Amino acid sequence: MRKPRLMTPGPAMVPEEVLLELARPVIHHRSDEAKQVITEVVAGLKEVFQTQNDVLILTASGTGAMEAAVVNAVPSGGKALVLNAGHFAARWMQICKAFGINGVSLDFEWGQPVDPDRVAEALRQHPDTACVFGTLSETSTGTGHPVEAIGRVVAETPALLAVDGISGVGAIECRTDEWGIDLLCVGSQKALMIPPGLAFVAVSPKAWDRIDRFDSPSYYFNLKAARKKMKEFDTPYTPAHTLILALQAALRRIRAEGMENVLRRHRRMSEACQAGIQALGLELFSARPAEGLTAFRVPDGLKDGQIRKALADRFGISTVGGQDKLKGKIVRIGHMGYTDELDVIAVLAALEMVLTDLGHDVEPGRAVAAAQQALMGQPSAVGYYKNGSL
Ligand SMILES: Cc1ncc(COP(=O)(O)O)c(C=O)c1O
Repeated sequence: MRKPRLMTPGPAMVPEEVLLELARPVIHHRSDEAKQVITEVVAGLKEVFQTQNDVLILTASGTGAMEAAVVNAVPSGGKALVLNAGHFAARWMQICKAFGINGVSLDFEWGQPVDPDRVAEALRQHPDTACVFGTLSETSTGTGHPVEAIGRVVAETPALLAVDGISGVGAIECRTDEWGIDLLCVGSQKALMIPPGLAFVAVSPKAWDRIDRFDSPSYYFNLKAARKKMKEFDTPYTPAHTLILALQAALRRIRAEGMENVLRRHRRMSEACQAGIQALGLELFSARPAEGLTAFRVPDGLKDGQIRKALADRFGISTVGGQDKLKGKIVRIGHMGYTDELDVIAVLAALEMVLTDLGHDVEPGRAVAAAQQALMGQPSAVGYYKNGSL
């Protein structure tokens, strides 16, 4: 039996004290105890999302939050601008189509960040856009998008900004209110460190103003119904309450570490992983890597499946390959949530051995040394700490 190491960009590993919560007897979801748990969980989520906006809990995977954002923010026949730079961004288009919304796709090369100037231009061309749909961390390419700059552009227009933060929030800085994110969609199984099954939407006053103006063709994902119940720290339908208990434990862990430290850890893991990959002569796929995962191109002569199978069979390490047009072309390593610097060193050491076994020319220790140097070097001067918070 291998020791399992879930290094996929979601689901991600779950801490032991959170797993223990999942073994507790089920309590009734309308009890005072349940409401107290939701009260604490919502406060914790607000800290992680950096928002004072309403945070609503849905029992669904992350896509449920995306569907809720679309169907509540844009009436059928309305127009949406989709910042389409990967597999998950394309999902916004598919959801729009399912609800008869006119989705305008603003396409970007996969692996490249969204260009806010092009967003501004598209909004000038489509002044009737009801909502812009973007992504914080595009998991299919390992790219972090400049949501702060996109938010500045959208804030100058009547359009709402909805952001898929499913693999980003908790791993990458996301200042929901400061950056003008009107609908932030998050899932439970990534940097929030619990299993799949819960989704969250943070809704701004600007978004509520729109949502209140029309009857959304939604029932289970109706945000007005969720808001009404959340006033009493409750949900309209039976929630996956066991997962909410687990989330309480996970959020306590985040609070104990401190949000700044959590983000700093992700940046360090990401820099170490990138340094290790590059030291092996492998090419990073993304031009602007997201902090929660690292994607690299499969070297010539090898297949992604061979590398991933060897990592799994020999070391119990799960990774993922590419999706859609990136099938067979990249390998993605997740390092989000309950992951630390030594996990990154371990996956790099394993990769060195696996590539050697597969006949690829690798000098054992190179990736590990590069990662160690990155970890022992000066903290990054970019992103979160730029603001002097270190
Ligand atoms: C960026 C992003 N968006 C959306 C999703 C879909 O979430 P779910 O599979 O939880 O519905 C994922 C899941 O991998 C994701 O990483």
